[in-house]
Amino acid sequence: MLNIRIEKTTTPKELPGKDNPLTFGTIFTDHMFVMDYEEGKGWIDPRIVPYGPLSLDPSAMVFHYGQEMFEGLKAYKAEDGRILLFRPDMNAKRANNSNKRLCMPQIPVEDFVQAVKELVKIDQAWIPTAPGTALYIRPFMIATDPFLGVRPSSTYKFIIILSPVGAYYKEGLNPVKIWIEDDYVRAVKGGIGEAKTGGNYAASLAAQMKAHDEGYSQVLWLDGVERKYIEEVGAMNIFFKINGTVVTPMLNGSILPGITRNSVCELCRSWGIPCEERRISVDELLEAAENGTLEECFGSGTAAVISPVGHLRFGDKVIQIKDGNIGELSQKIYDTITGIQLGKIEGPEGWTVVC
Ligand code: PLP
Ligand code: COI
Repeated sequence: MLNIRIEKTTTPKELPGKDNPLTFGTIFTDHMFVMDYEEGKGWIDPRIVPYGPLSLDPSAMVFHYGQEMFEGLKAYKAEDGRILLFRPDMNAKRANNSNKRLCMPQIPVEDFVQAVKELVKIDQAWIPTAPGTALYIRPFMIATDPFLGVRPSSTYKFIIILSPVGAYYKEGLNPVKIWIEDDYVRAVKGGIGEAKTGGNYAASLAAQMKAHDEGYSQVLWLDGVERKYIEEVGAMNIFFKINGTVVTPMLNGSILPGITRNSVCELCRSWGIPCEERRISVDELLEAAENGTLEECFGSGTAAVISPVGHLRFGDKVIQIKDGNIGELSQKIYDTITGIQLGKIEGPEGWTVVC
């Protein structure tokens, strides 16, 4: 258990006004959690301090070689006033998998969750309650050794910041348009695609800009070797409903093991809907679209929640799904997951964690 020192701000910021619709990731709360790591000492000085700029040496290794990990989860205010987190232990475990891949130190799961809870409690006035909003939690770790050689750092900072957010896509729950990318690739098995680390997102920007220029919200990546099999979207995992069966690409080492993805699979199975985690080729998808068996398509993610996809483009081929409307199953999954997150529906054991 961490012994967290607390230093409250003496100049609290103004909370976002109720009639100002929240966007994603632009407003930050009054406090942040910080702790330092030194080889030989472990994690030291856990503290909650006023939110503000960091002072780092320009030679800090994170700036040069990108040794960093980040996570994303949300806090919700239930109608009865409880502050709820959704499966935060899964984020803590995934953070440690990323840390391991990037040669960064482990954080005990209970310490990660405790730090999140204590920070959220201090800034609880910032949890928005309008439909579709939440307090986004962004834990991250950076390498801080002042050194220009390539090796793992021996010092790190683990930081958590908070941001009241609305929908990630401007479309909200309206279907988004997705570009299937066949030129750039994001990750390959054995690389860092299954870690949540900045480099994957830096690698995605060129394709994302290309897709934006064509009027698409996000890129759907294909596998980096054969460029045939579907992987995931820039900020979410992807699901298809084909002939009554839910299909999502299996965890193959190059895609992020999404917590929402795992929750969707578990929910579908609990409802008796077959859910397959397997390889799915873009050809299979085009064929299903052509023969009318592609019934629904949606993305899943913490920021994106459940985001229906109404239009996919691959080269000169366009797949239109559900005439641009949200599918029945996508809606049911959205309602159930957000219902559990907001404490309106009881989810499986351990999914809802009270702060
Ligand atoms: N895939 C990528 C690349 C992501 O950035 C995210 C978002 O975190 C996801 C998938 C979905 O993961 P989760 O459901 O854990 O938020
Ligand atoms: C999240 O959904 O938490 C993410 O990290 C996606 C992010 C790229 C906004």
